Amino acid sequence: MSDNTASPYGTLPPASAPATRKPVSLPRLMEMHARGEKIAMLTAYDATFAAVADAAGVDCILVGDSLGMVCQGLPSTVGVSLDTMRYHVESVTRGVRRVQGTAWIIGDMPYGTFHESPEQAFRNASVLMQAGAHMVKIEGGGWTTNTVRFLVERGIPVCGHLGLTPQTVHALGGYRVQGKTPDGADILKNHALELQQAGASLLVLEMVPAQLSAHITQALPHCPTIGIGAGADTAGQVLVMHDMLGVNLGKMPKFVHNFMAQADSVRGAMEAFVTAVKQGTFPDNALHAW
Ligand code: KIV
Repeated sequence: MSDNTASPYGTLPPASAPATRKPVSLPRLMEMHARGEKIAMLTAYDATFAAVADAAGVDCILVGDSLGMVCQGLPSTVGVSLDTMRYHVESVTRGVRRVQGTAWIIGDMPYGTFHESPEQAFRNASVLMQAGAHMVKIEGGGWTTNTVRFLVERGIPVCGHLGLTPQTVHALGGYRVQGKTPDGADILKNHALELQQAGASLLVLEMVPAQLSAHITQALPHCPTIGIGAGADTAGQVLVMHDMLGVNLGKMPKFVHNFMAQADSVRGAMEAFVTAVKQGTFPDNALHAW
């Protein structure tokens, strides 16, 4: 007899499903870093994909403002609002809690929500924390240092984001590799050191030459670096979920690998990503780095 009570709309397990791994916390991320275990991070924007990522063993789920491009169809991340981020952080949090509740959830602070003052940043970061985020991510270096310190002092863990910062794509003149000149590399490294000093607990390095990101990673014992297009020698890796599943009708960036090509399910592709990051087989500097 068929089960007429089963939902046709996806199958999240009951909220009481037992966790099969320990929850990822800030101390746990630091322990992983200290013993050289790479951190696997993926973006997710809704409950089901977040639940699958959690079940696949992804350490950190970034509710990135890349959702503006992959979910909302915007031309860049600049148009994403705080309310949209809150909605997606809430959805991801519900999904993660339904499965194992183990992944560390990072909410991206969208453009214009932290630029005026540390107080403005705190007010808006609180919205994402109350929506379920464990940490917020803030793009930029130098002028963001005081804001990062202000949030950290008030109990909000912060992930920095340097290199290509998509919210300032217009000022940067496009999606270009950053830190290629000696001066550019020095500025990037100094900003990274300042962010660590201000208490940032993670640092995304996006589209940075592999040698420079390896050097910055060595210089930051207390702030694991998470690379995207930044070579193999970072403390962890992040990819936009749609890219690593090959759901991309445009030109695939050089630093992306389509993990769906050899997998028979989304969960399988995410598990392959986690394994490749942990074993250090993704990224391959010969294929994915500058
Ligand atoms: O918004 C995002 O998804 C990001 C990642 C590309 C790091 O910032």
